[in-house]
Amino acid sequence: MTPALPPGSTIGIIGGGQLGRMSAVAASRLGYHVHILSASTPAPAAETAAKLTVGSYDDPAVLEAFARECDVITFEFENISAAGLRQLEALRPVHPAGRILEISQDRIAEKTTLSAMGLPVASWRSVQNEDDLATLKDFGFPLILKTTRFGYDGKGQFRVSDETAFQQLWNDRQNLPYPLVAEKKIDFARELSVMVARNHHGDIRCFDPSENRHRDGILRMSMVPAPVAPETIDEAQRIASCLAKDIGLVGILGVELFQNADGQLIINEIAPRPHNSGHWTQNACIIDQFEMHIRAVAGLPLPSTRRHSDGFMHNLIGPDDMALVPAMMEEDNAALHLYGKAEARPGRKMGHINRIFPRGGLPGEHALAQLQPVHPQE
Ligand SMILES: Nc1ncnc2c1ncn2[C@@H]1O[C@H](COP(=O)(O)OP(=O)(O)O)[C@@H](O)[C@H]1O
Ligand SMILES: [Mg+2]
Repeated sequence: MTPALPPGSTIGIIGGGQLGRMSAVAASRLGYHVHILSASTPAPAAETAAKLTVGSYDDPAVLEAFARECDVITFEFENISAAGLRQLEALRPVHPAGRILEISQDRIAEKTTLSAMGLPVASWRSVQNEDDLATLKDFGFPLILKTTRFGYDGKGQFRVSDETAFQQLWNDRQNLPYPLVAEKKIDFARELSVMVARNHHGDIRCFDPSENRHRDGILRMSMVPAPVAPETIDEAQRIASCLAKDIGLVGILGVELFQNADGQLIINEIAPRPHNSGHWTQNACIIDQFEMHIRAVAGLPLPSTRRHSDGFMHNLIGPDDMALVPAMMEEDNAALHLYGKAEARPGRKMGHINRIFPRGGLPGEHALAQLQPVHPQE
């Protein structure tokens, strides 16, 4: 049995973004040093870490030098090449395993794996070429075409609402970024997500599911408790726990779910790392998703995920939201988390605010709407 990583050890985190930044804070609280590998600078994660290496995630010399300085390696960024993953795994323990990252990198591998585990996914078709594209007429509309790799924040997606929209896409068929996956558009009642952590002893802990709202493909807010029946909470956690066990997770993983009109849960996608929709845990739980992730990776016990409060997380996106920060600084029972990014470009995640309420005290829809940043253009 692998012993727990002693304090003073070095945890390597691949990726230089805000998820790495907040993971590094959790790791340093537990007495670890953090070494960040980032492909670019400035790297938000580097500011809260002991060491930064800047280099390509696919350069064997960079990966080797980085791995040799770490005791264990994890990720905040998913798109490392298969060869890079193999190389890292040959040198040091890597959690979650490279094989899990490879599944989450490819929407087709992801859906195939989840279906084989008996877990629910939206009906889908692989679209490798024009011939596959032609068959979508009998698959039916509305549908969403997604690039199989490298999509995030709704990028690389094409919504095809009806046959007319399909015809336009067909005219442009030579320019589509194959391979693609076509998914039936789910007429969901709400989107939920669950963060699940598992350590190498096989202990599994799920946080409460949050309800998540997106705009323009980007997460805007998460709220906990999600307004769903207790059975739905149990079912979401059951799905996440089965997945963590069957896939052999060591670390944390976010499961994005749709709840359809008849209450059924369907997995949208998975992310084997801390997740934006789990940021509420920072202020509504004693142990948040970042510490749970580091504990799992370091072979430490996983304590309770119990929530002491209700929470409402709102992302701060681009210059418009950043303009609201001075007013937010004045709020009581609200924790601001800023990522230290110099340039507030439109659509860029700059930080988030966690507004915390006593259990049972999460305001209703109308009152929550008053708390959201409001911009003149909306
Ligand atoms: N099959 C679908 N039906 C309805 N909405 C969808 C579907 N797939 C994606 N979406 C919407 O688009 C958002 C982003 O899609 P997702 O597949 O999660 O991509 P990303 O990797 O960019 O997060 C989802 O959170 C959801 O709001
Ligand atoms: Mg998503």
